[in-house]
Amino acid sequence: MAALSFRNVIKRYGKGPKANQVIHGVSAEIKDGEFVVIVGPSGCGKSTLLRMVAGLEEISAGEIAIGARVVNDVEPARRDIAMVFQNYALYPHMSNFDNMAYGLRIQGVPKDEIKARVDKAAKILELGHLLERKPRELSGGQRQRVAMGRAIVRQPQVFLFDEPLSNLDAKLRAQTRLEIQKLHRELGITSLFVTHDQVEAMTLAQRIIVMNAGVMDQFGTPEEVYNRPATTFVASFIGSPPMNLLKDAPGVRAGKILGIRPEHLVLDDEGWSVNVEQVELLGAERLVYGRVGDEQLIVRIDESQRSPAVGETVRVGARPDRLHWFDAGSGKRVE
Ligand SMILES: Nc1ncnc2c1ncn2[C@@H]1O[C@H](COP(=O)(O)OP(=O)(O)O)[C@@H](O)[C@H]1O
Ligand SMILES: [Mg+2]
Repeated sequence: MAALSFRNVIKRYGKGPKANQVIHGVSAEIKDGEFVVIVGPSGCGKSTLLRMVAGLEEISAGEIAIGARVVNDVEPARRDIAMVFQNYALYPHMSNFDNMAYGLRIQGVPKDEIKARVDKAAKILELGHLLERKPRELSGGQRQRVAMGRAIVRQPQVFLFDEPLSNLDAKLRAQTRLEIQKLHRELGITSLFVTHDQVEAMTLAQRIIVMNAGVMDQFGTPEEVYNRPATTFVASFIGSPPMNLLKDAPGVRAGKILGIRPEHLVLDDEGWSVNVEQVELLGAERLVYGRVGDEQLIVRIDESQRSPAVGETVRVGARPDRLHWFDAGSGKRVE
């Protein structure tokens, strides 16, 4: 196990005047044994960051260190990392056992030791009865477990996961999420996990890196990014439905943006006058969509509360301890 450091890391694709910079100076210290999730929309640079750690992409400037060792010029096989991909990347003609053993054979690990490590990983992942089969004889979830098993047997310093759950259906995704948490508790290996799914980020991470177009907007615990988002981008990316961001509502001064989460708004006798445009029932709660002036507002209410009717005008109040303020120019949080 090892800490993982990003020091002002920059990535450009291409050279000279045509170069396209996609990572703009990322610095982060990931602790030994920590589980960190990189989250952000498609194209924000998540995979690029991970691939630079793995050595699959060159680092244009800055440094990446695994433990005390700067790995910029270390070849991938010598970085002591293991990576799990979205598409599993298993060899179809090999058994699942051989898929898990392959990397160790290449390293020249003795046969007995390979068997012991594969059996142990298979036990943790409940794959024991599937080892003689080929990947195509497994379900998607089982294949992903084989891919994780292949990473575990390497006993790396760092695990890298690039959207490993994206091809699974919702139920299996939730279940595999729990397995990954269990795995991390048991093995304690420093992990960097990429996803575009903020729910996955919130549930898996000890700390979250929120990426916005190649810039790290925030690096904090799930509580911090939810309770004190550093920018309007983080505020609207973390949380579902997203935080309401209001520029023109009564009480909002010029130059400021007011953020308030749908769950921190209440229907009562005071506050903004809101025209209800749509109501959605989501089981235990309702989402009320309306307008305050020209701006859209989403209010989340308990299903036991009276549902307002479409077309009705209601009063909406905000919990004063739950207001967030941002600078309208920079989008940054202001106190
Ligand atoms: N090999 C490449 N050559 C040129 N541009 C690339 C290459 N790989 C990724 N990019 C660009 O870098 C940006 C970040 O990509 P990526 O890291 O794959 O994003 P994410 O994983 O967050 O979806 C995107 O704009 C993408 O088009
Ligand atoms: Mg990606």
